[in-house]
Amino acid sequence: MDDKIIHQDRSMGQVIEAITPDLNIRPKDCLGVKHSDPGTIVIMGATGDLTARKLVPALFDLYLNGGLPDHFRIVGCGRTKLSDSEFRNKMQDALNVKGVMDVLKWPAFAAALNYRAIDYENPASFMSLAEFLRKLDQKYTTGGNRIFYLAIPPSLYQPVAQMLGQAGLAKENRNGNGWSRIVVEKPFGRDLKTAVALNQGIQKYFNEHQIFRIDHYLAKETVQNILMFRFANAIFEPIWNRRYIDHIRITAAETLGVEHRAGYYEAAGVIRDMFQNHMMQLLALTAMEPPSRFESDRVRGEKVKVFRSLRPFPVEQLRKYIVLGQYGQGKIDNQPVTGYREEPGISPNSLTPTFARMIVFIDNWRWQGVPFYLTSGKRLARKVTEIEIQFKGVPHSMFRQTLGETIVANRLILGIYPDERITLTFQTKNPGARVCLHSVTMDFSYDQNYTGPILDAYEKVLIDCILGDQMLFWEQDGVEQCWSFLTPILNECETCGNREEMLHFYEAGSWGPKHSIESKPG
Ligand code: BG6
Repeated sequence: MDDKIIHQDRSMGQVIEAITPDLNIRPKDCLGVKHSDPGTIVIMGATGDLTARKLVPALFDLYLNGGLPDHFRIVGCGRTKLSDSEFRNKMQDALNVKGVMDVLKWPAFAAALNYRAIDYENPASFMSLAEFLRKLDQKYTTGGNRIFYLAIPPSLYQPVAQMLGQAGLAKENRNGNGWSRIVVEKPFGRDLKTAVALNQGIQKYFNEHQIFRIDHYLAKETVQNILMFRFANAIFEPIWNRRYIDHIRITAAETLGVEHRAGYYEAAGVIRDMFQNHMMQLLALTAMEPPSRFESDRVRGEKVKVFRSLRPFPVEQLRKYIVLGQYGQGKIDNQPVTGYREEPGISPNSLTPTFARMIVFIDNWRWQGVPFYLTSGKRLARKVTEIEIQFKGVPHSMFRQTLGETIVANRLILGIYPDERITLTFQTKNPGARVCLHSVTMDFSYDQNYTGPILDAYEKVLIDCILGDQMLFWEQDGVEQCWSFLTPILNECETCGNREEMLHFYEAGSWGPKHSIESKPG
């Protein structure tokens, strides 16, 4: 029953069980866990939070679903000295805490885990890692294929790439190596200059096809679905432009505060944390042209064209385009929470924004003059991530004698969180003798047609790295284009004398600062 979809045939009142009708394959097979090369996943930063909370649980779940190669090893590396069995115990605890342990399958998975203490700045330490990996290849026939996952602080990305390169681990198909891939978490630099330097630093040793820059938003099913929705249906594309669309809102609101990430967040702020990556990707997927094929280079190429078409902000009129905010005290889920400046590790005079709303324009034929409102903030009223397409109103209302001119325009919402759904709002007649219009919503929920297993974002990321598919990862050009768009704002906001004036405080649990921006600044 697990793999089947139930269809209710209304006319016959019958329940028909079927495999996915249009693809004729089982939902489970859509997981795409096809044949993959053997290999070793080396996690740098294996004693850290990301490894315990995300990476090892994702790898274990992939293992349970047959998503790892037949021959694989996982090697954790970190500064702390641990034995293999201490590392395994630590990972076992992490799976227990997450409630994803399968006691029967754990021993075989655990046997594929090793640990190596490493000094991130010591070439000899990496030479000995290289030697260790070669021995593993011989013993476990892992073919010299390796993924180096950098779950380490960003300041170590470049030095570790260099150490791997100097130890001969970046070169493909020589000295016993098969393929070699490096996975980098955000942030990729803190502005254009540092991003360029980081890219150059990594590219000294790894070619672009070996570099996987993660954005976990791209691994969300509902985010990937934006392209299917737009380009696997003929009816939306003709109206997906300035002629029919009035504006687009892209929102990623969170209830969480800064949590235990003060050190990082104080220096980053919401623009680096959410806009330079996730918000820009959502924008690109919504606005891009259809690529001729669903292939990594072509899809990423179309997104870069969107980034290149972003209209630069007129820095001298920034306030017309951007609202920045910082949360104060308030209530989330009826529980009192402290303000940002009282959070542990945050300066009591901090001017770091935790909220931003900006109006962005894309200067091309499709989008000229259509405002894109991008909003993201912490400690807001509700966690919601969505893309709202607001269509224009009817050009002429034949109902105006009875209803006036106010007919609510159509709205399409691509819900990413918590509602993984697509809704379309339109007008209908309310039953009765008088002409009364009524807005109704057509509602599609992703889970209504699917009962198979679902990959978590990190599982998808890891599968794609194993398969060498870069479609859902940032390419260098995209990163740099986005930084060149956002860096002038950051410079202006961070260096101008009136920084405090730019920052609007808002109550935690609200929808952000009351201060608004013009809807279409001239
Ligand atoms: C991360 C940011 O990239 O995305 C966090 O660093 C933010 O600050 C998170 O909370 C939001 O992700 P999601 O998937 O919960 O919307």
